[in-house]
Amino acid sequence: MSTQGLLDQIADVGRDRRRGGYSRHAFDPAERELRTWFTEQASRRGLDVETDRNGNLWAWWGNPGPDALVTGSHLDSVPGGGAFDGPLGVVSAFTAVDALRERGRPPRAPFAVVAFAEEEGGRFGVPCLGSRLLTGAIGADAARALTDPNGVTLAEAAAGAGLDPERLGPDPDRLAGIGRFVELHVEQGKGLGYENRPLAIGTDISAHGRWRFTFTGQGDHAGTTLLMHRKDPMLPAAATIGATRIAAMDASHGRATVGRLVPNPGGTNVIASTVDLWLDARAEDEYCTRAMVEEITEAARSAAEQEGCTVQVTEESYSDTVYFDRELRHEFGRVLGKVPAIPTGAGHDAGILAAHVPTGMLFVRNPTGISHAPEEFAEPEDVEQGAAALADVLEHLGS
Ligand code: GLV
Ligand code: MN
Ligand code: MN
Ligand code: MN
Repeated sequence: MSTQGLLDQIADVGRDRRRGGYSRHAFDPAERELRTWFTEQASRRGLDVETDRNGNLWAWWGNPGPDALVTGSHLDSVPGGGAFDGPLGVVSAFTAVDALRERGRPPRAPFAVVAFAEEEGGRFGVPCLGSRLLTGAIGADAARALTDPNGVTLAEAAAGAGLDPERLGPDPDRLAGIGRFVELHVEQGKGLGYENRPLAIGTDISAHGRWRFTFTGQGDHAGTTLLMHRKDPMLPAAATIGATRIAAMDASHGRATVGRLVPNPGGTNVIASTVDLWLDARAEDEYCTRAMVEEITEAARSAAEQEGCTVQVTEESYSDTVYFDRELRHEFGRVLGKVPAIPTGAGHDAGILAAHVPTGMLFVRNPTGISHAPEEFAEPEDVEQGAAALADVLEHLGS
């Protein structure tokens, strides 16, 4: 089966008819269907599947660890996301297993295909949740208490999916068994399209994080409340959104986004009593990222005060700049020849693992340059070329 063929098998799972694209979130029906599909694909290849204490899926070729060579990505998506961000790395891992088998070159080291849970944070708000839990980058208690937009806690959702919520948390033995991790991913920008190259080696991930701004005012009637009497939290929220563009322009490689805003109670003829707004901020390093967030926070405070409102700011996640393993990058280059080396502004489980394990990434050209949206794309030839490159790299690392 071709890699594109495997991707086509899941093309109808989790389609979002309202938003377009896909909505596949931790432990929802679509994601569960993908877990079943993963298990079937693994079994078909004679791999042994286990779900770890945090809901990450592992398919072992031979016995687990130590010093395992691990490859994979994630199966969840952002709301209304594309078909490739995540699944491409998982299907390529399976077809790499096929390729190594056909070549008669099974890896000597233990080998696993992994699908990390809730990489996008689309349901519980913290990205790379499965890998953060595994590595201890988020504490078990904090994770258990995370809620989805319907108020369901991670502990409840995990229990509903057959996990023991008490066992969520760091998994040091499993982590210690990973020797190297390689993640293949669709490119989430236009770099390779501009360079007209199908494949790249990842160099680093920008610093990035998420902050929640809660503006509190006074809920009231839209028709009868005089302007001078209003404490409308939508006004400072709007000013904050405006401030993100200015702050991002000031920062090195700055990018600041408000992609989610929830007025409460949310009626057309109601002045909101509170507004929650989520800021996604990324820049070259921690200093630049925090300076940008500080500038936006100042703007939020001043706009809130002007409207007689208050604002509370909470950091929901933060990941520092990550540089992928130099030796692995060198090995990738030896196998793949002269391919471009590119940084990424997107977060990945590879970024979380990199703090503990030699980790590298490969990127496949995306001709639209668009990601986290239905227009995300990779040409079938590039998909096959990417998977073949992954197989070559794994063959080299595993021999
Ligand atoms: C995940 O893809 C992210 O970068 O937000
Ligand atoms: Mn993503
Ligand atoms: Mn991804
Ligand atoms: Mn990601």
